[in-house]
Amino acid sequence: MGNMLEIRNLHAEAGGREILKGVDLTIEEGETCVLFGPNGSGKSTLLSAIMGYSTNQITNGSIIYKGIDITDFPVNKRAELGIGMMMQRPPNVIGVKLGKLIATASSKERVDEILNSAEDFRMENFLDRDVNVGFSGGEIKRSELLQLTAQSPDLILLDEPESGVDLQSIDLIGNKVRDLLYDRVNCRRSAPKKVSALVITHTGQILDYIGADKAYVMGEGRIRCSGRPADLLKKIKTNGYGDCGVCKEVVIPE
Ligand SMILES: Nc1ncnc2c1ncn2[C@@H]1O[C@H](COP(=O)(O)OP(=O)(O)OP(=O)(O)O)[C@@H](O)[C@H]1O
Ligand SMILES: [Mg+2]
Repeated sequence: MGNMLEIRNLHAEAGGREILKGVDLTIEEGETCVLFGPNGSGKSTLLSAIMGYSTNQITNGSIIYKGIDITDFPVNKRAELGIGMMMQRPPNVIGVKLGKLIATASSKERVDEILNSAEDFRMENFLDRDVNVGFSGGEIKRSELLQLTAQSPDLILLDEPESGVDLQSIDLIGNKVRDLLYDRVNCRRSAPKKVSALVITHTGQILDYIGADKAYVMGEGRIRCSGRPADLLKKIKTNGYGDCGVCKEVVIPE
């Protein structure tokens, strides 16, 4: 199996501060990885750096995607190459209707299918609204997931997909994330794509829906240790992040 993503010694700044301090991470084709870590440890910053948001200044290291060095590529180029992200707090996009955005994000052949699928996301009444403007927390998550489904990326970055979502909607979010990973839409048409994912979660609820292969713990801008998702989550719940109990290293120095 080839590597979908290789991050080597990545350093990145935001607001003039170094946030990522040498991240090394490899995700194979078809692999789903989970990223745990305390608030402020740099998880969202890492996802933004992979996606290429200009809020982050990469100062050292490299991001290799499908064998291509994309470290200096702009966000739109990365999206075209198949990287997609569900943000923790996406911005309001005033003047852009959700329906127009998802139609633009999807391939020409799938536009009607995607617009019709808005109903499955309970988003059918949002298509003529400006993206995220006045959306509730749960509506934003469903809208983000609908946009990702339209894009159908090969590398899916999910930043706390289940946070702030009511218990019933968690089922919807979980099932739709699973559909994205297994890419049923494309499977019907051609050979199955090998979709990879990096998923940030605090509660692990999303893990009930997706079969994650590997988990990483982030602390103070670095990957501190890795392990099996369920094992690591259990140990974090028991021991906190002071010592994740898997590796010898203390994750957050006391
Ligand atoms: N533009 C910025 N200016 C200053 N500090 C920033 C900026 N962007 C991020 N940071 C800081 O970088 C650190 C890491 O933030 P990040 O959002 O990556 O954390 P996180 O691990 O996703 O946390 P959470 O679990 O709370 O979402 C935080 O201390 C944050 O305040
Ligand atoms: Mg975050």
